[in-house]
Amino acid sequence: PLASTGELVTTAAGTRSAVAAFNVITLEHVEAVIAGAESAGAPVVLQVSENAVKFRYGRLLPLARAAVAAAERAAVPVALHLDHVQSDHLLRQAPDAGFSSVMYDAARLPYADNLSATRAAADWAHAQGLWIEAELGQVGGKDGRPPLDAHAPGARTDPDQAHDFVTGTGVDALAVAVGSVHAMTTRTATLDHGLLKRLSAAVAVPLVLHGSSGVPDDGLVAAVAGGIAKVNVGTALNVAMTGAIREFLAAHPAAVDSRKYLSVGRDAMAGEVQRIIGVLAGQSAP
Ligand code: G3H
Ligand code: ZN
Repeated sequence: PLASTGELVTTAAGTRSAVAAFNVITLEHVEAVIAGAESAGAPVVLQVSENAVKFRYGRLLPLARAAVAAAERAAVPVALHLDHVQSDHLLRQAPDAGFSSVMYDAARLPYADNLSATRAAADWAHAQGLWIEAELGQVGGKDGRPPLDAHAPGARTDPDQAHDFVTGTGVDALAVAVGSVHAMTTRTATLDHGLLKRLSAAVAVPLVLHGSSGVPDDGLVAAVAGGIAKVNVGTALNVAMTGAIREFLAAHPAAVDSRKYLSVGRDAMAGEVQRIIGVLAGQSAP
């Protein structure tokens, strides 16, 4: 059934666990995430980013309507989240499109501007009954820009500023920069678990990890123990899907029916979803 992100994250935070949130681009992504979550027997968040909407000719509704229909028929709770929103025009489409939550991303702005823009977004979101996440610090690596140096001074989230930001904006969850970088295709990121513990102690809301594709399994497990309650994964699904399709097409150079390779890609994605949910639940890979 269709669930609400706020309830899933609150439940996870209350049990020191985390809900997995996967970025979806195509209908195959939607189907794979739900199939993987059903195999794992766990709730899941489907998230659509502003970049994914740009890919869909700027239209949110076609993919959103499909995701709602798939979520309503799922055997596990599935919530819809609008991810990395910079455009107010897109933000305002969230409630009608079936989203229970948004991530408002003004982390590129100077601190005072991030605070005021996020506060305005949070006031609007709460008036609509939406749960809202925002980012402080810079995870970086988005929009094809060169990956940001996660160790650069100023990139990490500062605990005192995080406290000020959360109380000043009223957001429901905070995405923190603790060493992960978006769009990594290798799982080699090293998280600053000491900083994560200090952030967790400094703010009263659940913390969110972005760029989780680049974090090794033991780093994810430690992050959840350290206070991360929502784990965002995008690139790892594309690595699984594209790798499987590339292999299939190499082995079947005469294949033309898109169902043949899309089903292979979808199965590989579903397997990765199930594996990651298992890692977050503390089950080690077989
Ligand atoms: O908001 C989305 C996530 O941060 C995904 O990051 O593609 O590096 O896993 P990723
Ligand atoms: Zn992100």
